Amino acid sequence: MKYASYFLNIVLIGALGYVGYKFVYDGNVATGSEDRIAVILTAAEKAEVLGEMRGLLETSQAVLLAATSDDVASIPDIVRPYGMIAVENESITMAAKLPLELKTMGYDAHRAMDALGAMAAEGASGDDIIATLAGAMSLCTTCHATYRFVAEEEMN
Ligand code: HEC
Repeated sequence: MKYASYFLNIVLIGALGYVGYKFVYDGNVATGSEDRIAVILTAAEKAEVLGEMRGLLETSQAVLLAATSDDVASIPDIVRPYGMIAVENESITMAAKLPLELKTMGYDAHRAMDALGAMAAEGASGDDIIATLAGAMSLCTTCHATYRFVAEEEMN
């Protein structure tokens, strides 16, 4: 009886460890004929992240426009919705499907938006803003080269 419960504990601890690993590190991924890693989401989650992506692109464009047209003061308001505030609305179920590396780059991209806002509020020049945005956009290109999103509904 005692041994059975030891055994059960080991199985339980193992199972919890596996779930923890899947949740934090691995995410829900597949590899296919493409080099990029496919992150499998529901169609609704995919639509949500792609919507967020278009927002990031619009924000980057608006920041460039402001920085090159002597309007740095407008940048804190432009970037705010795509700073870390955007992450707060993401569901835990979806976050669990994102590999850790992707989540880290994603959070860094949102943090970069907040950082641009803070720089602008402290009176940075347009050129400094552009240089910082150019650096931050390597997060966009690195992540795009590594991952793609696939809706599970599209898989069968
Ligand atoms: C953490 C990873 C990651 C980061 C960081 C990231 N993206 Fe994406 N983005 C993706 C993935 C994955 C896709 C889907 C690509 C695919 O499925 O082929 C995507 C798609 C897009 C799309 C297409 C949206 C659509 O409607 O199809 C745009 C635009 C985009 N990203 C812009 C950006 C911009 C701009 C940045 C940086 C400010 C950025 N992304 C940062 C992962 C990322």
